[in-house]
Amino acid sequence: MKILVAGGAGYIGSVVTEELVKDGHNVVVYDSLYKGHRGAVVRGATFIHGDLLERAKLSAALREHNIEAVIHLAADSLVGESVQNPAKYYHNNVFAGLALLDAMRECKVRRIVFSSTAATYGEPEKQPLEERDPTAPTNPYGETKLAFERALHWYEEAYGIHYAALRYFNAAGATTHCGEHHNPETHLIPILLQAASGQRPQVEIYGDDYPTRDGTCVRDYIHVVDLARAHILALDILNARSAIYNLGCGGEGYTVKEVIAAAQHVTGREIPVRVGARRSGDPAVLIASSDKIKRELGWSPQKQDLHEIIASAWQWMQQHPHGYADEK
Ligand SMILES: NC(=O)c1ccc[n+]([C@@H]2O[C@H](COP(=O)([O-])OP(=O)(O)OC[C@H]3O[C@@H](n4cnc5c(N)ncnc54)[C@H](O)[C@@H]3O)[C@@H](O)[C@H]2O)c1
Repeated sequence: MKILVAGGAGYIGSVVTEELVKDGHNVVVYDSLYKGHRGAVVRGATFIHGDLLERAKLSAALREHNIEAVIHLAADSLVGESVQNPAKYYHNNVFAGLALLDAMRECKVRRIVFSSTAATYGEPEKQPLEERDPTAPTNPYGETKLAFERALHWYEEAYGIHYAALRYFNAAGATTHCGEHHNPETHLIPILLQAASGQRPQVEIYGDDYPTRDGTCVRDYIHVVDLARAHILALDILNARSAIYNLGCGGEGYTVKEVIAAAQHVTGREIPVRVGARRSGDPAVLIASSDKIKRELGWSPQKQDLHEIIASAWQWMQQHPHGYADEK
């Protein structure tokens, strides 16, 4: 298939591209590099440097490469920033996303896989979360992702664009070539590994008085390759229908303290931590039920062991101590 990956120079997009190329698809990575990295663009993919709002460039990319499906990961995704500056999130995650959908309509591309998020659920009433559970985002990030999901629903009804909205829980880990390099980094595992390698003095735990087994928040970590494989499976349904799927490993999840202990074990280094205040809007527990995608698409995560997930990220970080900075 000929696939355009919007945001393919970012963390998850680079791994999605890697898996698509491995499977023999023709991939065009479309990315403004405003957050991503040129060095993250996988060999074997065509790279187009552009923003979703550069409409003529985007339409030309879809048309000239005879694109049959789009995987859309290009967005802003910092919860705290979204509360401070919602305009930025509505602009990039909704307005620019709609520009992509309109370019797809114009070029008759009728399949899209969209990176959505567990943040669409807000403060969950029960665990594990199922796709039919209520959505009630508690910040503009989750709100804008949900708004785009709703747009997808109506674009399907009116224009026949089929979609798969994948609600990721916590993506983590790396491949040999592609890893996580955000600036600022807000994800727990890379932050812990930066502390383990001396790149930051300590790690802050945001609250240890939650009603969980050790007082710290519980999250559901999914290896980025397992996440990427789900996109490829999801492409298959888009001839005929649309769907929303959760993506996590389920089970008991891991507390922040358990992730810290695992990171110390994997790296063999002491990681200095400090307990700080809770962050507002952080649910105590976020665990996915991924039964729907397992049942309907036969997806099953291959790397569920937290130590294995962290070890892959640690290996990548040791080979790329400055992330992609040296490859720009
Ligand atoms: N990382 C996670 O754990 C996680 C969890 C849930 C959802 N998500 C979603 O998955 C997607 C990818 O996450 P990530 O961690 O790889 O993020 P990332 O920031 O590493 O990648 C996003 C990429 O999109 C590009 N981009 C952003 N806006 C653009 C625009 N208007 N035009 C062109 N390119 C643009 C950036 O340059 C970047 O390369 C995001 O949409 C995010 O909301 C991520």
